[in-house]
This record gives sequence, structure tokens and C-alpha cells, in this order.
Amino acid sequence: MKELKNVPTHIGIIMDGNGRWATKRGLPRNYGHKKGIDAIERTIYACLKFNIKYCTFFAFSTENWKRSKEEIDGIFSLLRDYLKKEDNIFLKNKIKLESIGVLDPFPDDLVAELTSLKNKTKNYDKLIVTFALNYGGRDDIIRAINNLLEKKEKKITEKDFLLALDTKNMPEPEIVIRTSGEMRISNFMLYQMAYSELFFPKTYWPDFDEKHLYKILKKYQKRDRRFGGVR
Ligand code: FPP
Repeated sequence: MKELKNVPTHIGIIMDGNGRWATKRGLPRNYGHKKGIDAIERTIYACLKFNIKYCTFFAFSTENWKRSKEEIDGIFSLLRDYLKKEDNIFLKNKIKLESIGVLDPFPDDLVAELTSLKNKTKNYDKLIVTFALNYGGRDDIIRAINNLLEKKEKKITEKDFLLALDTKNMPEPEIVIRTSGEMRISNFMLYQMAYSELFFPKTYWPDFDEKHLYKILKKYQKRDRRFGGVR
């Protein structure tokens, strides 16, 4: 793999296909999510290698509560074990962990684990990994509006609005990837994605690795980003 120039600052990832990956192999859906965590780790290492500064994973959407209790509990326990690991990827590699979305509905111990790791890594700045948890783009926008209304702002600018969103501390994603071949945004960062370059690799998320990301980054370099202008 050749060294990459002009890499994006922020990539967002909609990790789709865990369930289908598992079902195809006659395995329970949660086994697909477990393998999905391995893909998250590979992707984080790839971000370090390619010098990508922000990576945001859509881990649990505001709509994912519609899934069975068994599947939801399974995802929580995977996340819990992942955050509890003593030699976790964040501390080992000085990576900052962040989250977006509303954490209130999650079990208290899970929120405590997440908050603790966020605190322990808050001063790192080489790579910022964000988990979107109980996150929805529409919910983010509505909460931002309500925050601004509370401040009794009369007129707001795009900049004010960006600063009221959960993503206030990060740039907008230049790239959003959705795996599994589905071509939908599914309520990810709706406002922030206005000019993102979209990629829809066919790979199911548990199979995603550094080579897939490299290919996407190479393609991204060839995209002509005009932001509404003319070259
Ligand atoms: C989408 O695949 C995946 C999810 C909704 C959950 C992803 C969650 C994890 C990988 C675990 C979370 C853990 C961490 C560390 C953030 P799908 O189930 O929609 O797949 P399908 O479309 O094939 O059914």
C-alpha cells in the first residue's frame, strides 16, 4: 500500500451487514455484532496508519430500539466488555474516545464505563474516535434547535447551528461509508453530511478491513469536490 496524501480529516461509518453476515453462516445475529467490533478495531488501526484524525462509528441509532430485547442486550454487553478491557485500544494508543447521542436510556453501568474511558482519554488528540449511541440525525437537529430556543436567540447563523449540534467539536465528515451494499443514510449525521462524499462498498461490516478503507481513500482522491461551484 502506497502512502496516501490528501486524506480526509473525518470519516463517518454506517456499519451495516452484521446480521446478514451471521445469518449467512447459520450463526446468531449477535455473533455478527461481535465480529463487527473486530472490524471497528481494524478500522481504528487503519485510521492511525492513514493519519485520519476523526472517525465516527454509527453504533446504535435512535431507531435501533425497535430490535428484539435479546439483540439490544447483546449489543450492550458487547459494548460493555469492550469498554472494560484493561488493555483497550484507546489507552494503548492514546486515542480519544467520544460519543454523540443521548445516553440516558442506556444502562447506568454502561454509561459509567463509557464516561470513565472518555475522561481517561480526554487529553489525547492524535485520533478522535466517536461512537454514535442512541444517535439520530433528526434528533440531533431538534435538540440543537431546542438548545438555541432556550438561549432565546432571535436569529442564528449556520455557525451557531453547527455549534449547537452533538458534533460541535469535530469537522463535518468529508467521507461517509455505509457497508453491505445498502444505499441509505438511515438518519446518520443529516446536517453534517451536506457535502460528504458517499461510499457504499458491498462488503458486510464484519469483513471490512484496511484494504477496503484504502480503496475508498484512493477513490476519494479522484472525486471532484466542487461544493456547488464550477471548476
Ligand atoms: C448494523 O448491522 C449494525 C448495528 C445496528 C450495530 C452495530 C454494533 C456493533 C458493531 C457493536 C457496538 C459496539 C461498539 C464497540 C460500538 P445490522 O444488524 O443492521 O445488519 P443487517 O442489516 O445485516 O441485519
